[in-house]
Amino acid sequence: MIHTGRHFLQIPGPSNVPDRVLRAMARPVMDHRGSEFTTLARGVLQGMRTVFQTRGAVVMYPSSGTGAWEAAMVNTLSAGDRVVLFETGHFSQLWREVAVRHGIQVDYVPGNWRSGASAAELEARLLADSQHAIKAVLVVHNETSTGVTSRVADVRLAMNRAEHPALLLVDAISSLAAIDYRHDEWGVDVTIASSQKGLMLPPGLSFQAISEKALRANKTARLPRAYWDWHAMLKSIETGSFPYTPATNLIYGLREALCMLEEEGLSNVFRRHARHAEAARAAVNAWGLEIICQASSEYSSTVTAVLTPQGHDADRLRAIILEHFDMSLGAGLSKLAGKAFRIGHLGHFNDLMLAGTLSGIEMGLRLAGIPHKDGGVLAALDCLAPAECGAKAESR
Ligand SMILES: Cc1ncc(COP(=O)(O)O)c(C=O)c1O
Repeated sequence: MIHTGRHFLQIPGPSNVPDRVLRAMARPVMDHRGSEFTTLARGVLQGMRTVFQTRGAVVMYPSSGTGAWEAAMVNTLSAGDRVVLFETGHFSQLWREVAVRHGIQVDYVPGNWRSGASAAELEARLLADSQHAIKAVLVVHNETSTGVTSRVADVRLAMNRAEHPALLLVDAISSLAAIDYRHDEWGVDVTIASSQKGLMLPPGLSFQAISEKALRANKTARLPRAYWDWHAMLKSIETGSFPYTPATNLIYGLREALCMLEEEGLSNVFRRHARHAEAARAAVNAWGLEIICQASSEYSSTVTAVLTPQGHDADRLRAIILEHFDMSLGAGLSKLAGKAFRIGHLGHFNDLMLAGTLSGIEMGLRLAGIPHKDGGVLAALDCLAPAECGAKAESR
């Protein structure tokens, strides 16, 4: 089938890159040891502090998010250290594997892939650890495979109540710059992020916000590190340079993306994401399909993961939608493969893109013969433009 018009990339990252950002990157490569780069690097790192909501150190790597997971651990932990990691879904599972390969002992708190990290469970585990053998608590803030957002502020409160000195390491890869995230206020020690989701950039940059406590832990942590070494990175950053070649043109793009976020205002960015997520859920509920996330307090603003009815292959549905409407939806990952699809509604996104996305899904459900009720798109439109708004406007 020949496709015309633009492809709909509605996976939960890599997300759509705005034309402004693409244009900003389409520039001659600069000398990364020159003064132009120094100014650029200092500016974007300051901008990232605003996005992380921190006044502390921020580092940036030419890497995907997985690299930043590794960087967080090798810089703060030693082989044999114990950590608590909540099983929230596919990404917590992958993070666990990276930890295990580094000789870290992971207390993997079992989860049903439908809910987030439990603050009560954590508190009980930390209270039982009177010898403070647990060195860090690891949480995926927004589990991209399930559309569940853990309440990091509650996790921190549980750690405070238990008076436990463990570090708090948080993966904000699919939440930063889309869902309210407060590195300093929530007392997070290392926040891990990457470029290809809320930051509206292509993949290839990762970031960390680092607390003073994590910097102290870095001095005694014994895991080998070279490429990821904070010490070398922070020393270079002070002078506006990098310990190795930075991803220069992605950083041009980052400067533009940070400008866009500032123009919109972070709180408006968070509100926009929450509103689109609510409308997406209205559609799914109207179709009579099941949202994976169970608690409304944990609904994700960036991704909605949906179960297809038993016996109906979610990958076939996605293939039909791709074939007929040129739209990519997120696949169900690992144990959700073939059972779920994921709607990405993050980054460079608006009402009409959401309406188009949901229309593609509703038509796909029909073509795939998946049992559902009509009216999902209408339910979403009602959410985006409630009829009473029109009535109010008329009476004015
Ligand atoms: C929550 C989360 N953590 C980690 C990763 C892994 O990041 P990457 O694929 O960029 O290495 C992803 C990727 O989508 C993710 O969504």
